[in-house]
Amino acid sequence: MAVKTKKTLVDVARLTKAQAKVEHMRLTLEIERHDKAYYQEDAPRISDAEYDALRQRLNAIEARFPEFVSGESPSQKIGAPPSGKFKKVRHAVPMLSLDNAFAEEDVLDFAGRIRRFLKLGDESRIDFSAEPKIDGLSMSLRYEGGELVTAATRGDGAEGEDVTANIRTLKDVPQELKGRNVPEICEVRGEVYMTKQAFLALNERQKAAGDTVFANPRNSAAGSLRQKDSSITASRPLGFFAYAWGEMAEMPADTQSGMIGWFERCGFKTNPLTRLCHSVEQLIAFHRKIEEQRAGLDYDIDGVVYKVDRLDWQERLGFVSRTPRWAIAHKFPAERAMTVLRDIEIQVGRTGSFTPVGKLEPVGVGGVIVQNVSLHNEDYIKGIGGDGEPLREGRDIRIGDTVIIQRAGDVIPQVVDVVLDKRPRNARVFQFPKKCPCPLHTDVVREETATGEEGARARCTGEFACPYQKIEHLKLFASRRAFDIEGLGEKQIAFFFEQGWVKEPADIFTLQARNAKLKLEAIEGYGETSVRNLFAAIEERRRISLERFIFALGMRHVGETTALALARGYGSWKGFHDACLRVAKGDEEAIAEMDALDQIGETVIASIKAYFGESHNRGIVERLTKEVTIVDVEKPKGNSAIAGKTVVFTGALEKMTRDEAKAMAERLGAKAAGSVSKKTDYVVAGPGAGSKLAEARKHGVEVLTEDEWLELIAQ
Ligand code: IVH
Repeated sequence: MAVKTKKTLVDVARLTKAQAKVEHMRLTLEIERHDKAYYQEDAPRISDAEYDALRQRLNAIEARFPEFVSGESPSQKIGAPPSGKFKKVRHAVPMLSLDNAFAEEDVLDFAGRIRRFLKLGDESRIDFSAEPKIDGLSMSLRYEGGELVTAATRGDGAEGEDVTANIRTLKDVPQELKGRNVPEICEVRGEVYMTKQAFLALNERQKAAGDTVFANPRNSAAGSLRQKDSSITASRPLGFFAYAWGEMAEMPADTQSGMIGWFERCGFKTNPLTRLCHSVEQLIAFHRKIEEQRAGLDYDIDGVVYKVDRLDWQERLGFVSRTPRWAIAHKFPAERAMTVLRDIEIQVGRTGSFTPVGKLEPVGVGGVIVQNVSLHNEDYIKGIGGDGEPLREGRDIRIGDTVIIQRAGDVIPQVVDVVLDKRPRNARVFQFPKKCPCPLHTDVVREETATGEEGARARCTGEFACPYQKIEHLKLFASRRAFDIEGLGEKQIAFFFEQGWVKEPADIFTLQARNAKLKLEAIEGYGETSVRNLFAAIEERRRISLERFIFALGMRHVGETTALALARGYGSWKGFHDACLRVAKGDEEAIAEMDALDQIGETVIASIKAYFGESHNRGIVERLTKEVTIVDVEKPKGNSAIAGKTVVFTGALEKMTRDEAKAMAERLGAKAAGSVSKKTDYVVAGPGAGSKLAEARKHGVEVLTEDEWLELIAQ
């Protein structure tokens, strides 16, 4: 073990807040690195006592400055070993998530959307499978020739972790599927959970042994599954309910309820409360009934899930972004708690927007300790926010107030009420800053709304010169959804930025070349292996897909879905970049072409124009593109007659809705555009088609009737 020079540590009680912050960051990084060395590399670099001393010092700092505690702090990551401990598994069919409904109207809207999409009359019945939403971890179990071959966690939906050895210890998971003629490949999906009773008993045992105590059954199920030693998993009572599937060589049923029956015949447990409902009223009644039963159940649920029962309808309905149109999670009402608001801080986001964050006296809500709460904007704090906001009317929020906070599912907790009776005399009205808290102290302006009025959100005007914005952009750049650089998380980025080593994205890719000077391995807590791993992870990401690259630029209003639409629209970086430069110069033709892309409108175009109109940004992009290879969008596979073509639908369609037609076109590899340009290949016009039809004629674009279109795609 390399001996490092020991620094004399200043007593925590004597640290200034600024010193403590730096020390907290350093300790966090160091602990994370030792966790990685211990869990992933099986090569601890310090003794247990030294490791404990690091944690104790971090805890002492957090006890003095509780505002440094965040969900990311090692003190909060009880027993959850860092990811990367298991082999990665790419899911044959992505594991997606569900859209949420909170109110009964949301369920009505959900059913209405389905009815419209499928063009069903009011008289047609839609059957739904209604199932409890188990609060555990989703799991994909792959069977080949009837034998369990892989068990993978959801991960980011595209890639999960291989936990096969641990899953084999669950009695609810058959090693072999029962019954004859099971399809050659079956991926059975469902939820791994721990019963409330088992969770309480486990925590008692852990406490007695001085070991990790878990916050809730979900965390304890996750912790139990992510063990290196599967005999530990075996000693933890985990259950599994099957409710979905991934790749299937053949479908053994044609309804969701039929599939659930098939899972049972194969030897799985399915949830006994699952029911088939025939109307929205029955769904609502199901929700109420399950909510009543919730407390008495031996496992945690956080809502119910409704799924269209007919699989052919599921297929037609398809997905929007990452959630199916054919299912929704109807959540139970949010859980609430009362606590004191100790302070308000301003967080500057990637695009300069200000979010006031309430610092709370930590409080448990639904099994999670909450200490930060979003206060949205200045008007929200003043109690003059718009309609439909969660804060009770007539309330303003002051520092020192006793507040009621609410947490619903994964949603960030919010303040919903202020207990005026408990307002102390010295409660302080928060003065919203007029200047950015960054060292530039740039002016703060309120954003304009689409109609040109003053909006509620405040922004720093420093743009690219504001270090807060730069750092937030770098965090997004390296994040999972963008460049996905392992080992370069938010804290590492912040650290490198503060050291001046990474000031813009291109710097990440030159780190290794500069390391002769920087000597990352000399930083306490790093080490040769972690530095090598970091450089390898960076190298691995020098090739990047066009949509990720566009998203990673961090332009305002260009999220993942928009980035994908742009990538598909232009196909290559060159095509996209040229178009952006022309848009930035106000080239009408380029603007019209961009506008013609599906899902792209004025707001996105204005943002692209502003971004590429700025020479500083063009410089960032230019330096970055020298470091990476941007992979063009793959040409649509398959030999469908419309693959790669651009189609515009206009007028009423009779056999299907416009959304369904668009979704179908996209499934077959075509682009569905919103307006006609000379790049359009087909315009499908139904009765009532107007200006788009005229445009098509003007550009000499082929016009098809709905039937001709259906014939074409059937080829
Ligand atoms: S269906 C395509 N059914 O909820 C969607 N999910 O918010 C497939 N969950 O990741 C999921 N109980 O972990 C489905 N009966 C149920 C569920 C359920 C719990 C979880 C699952 C999923 C999450 C989505």
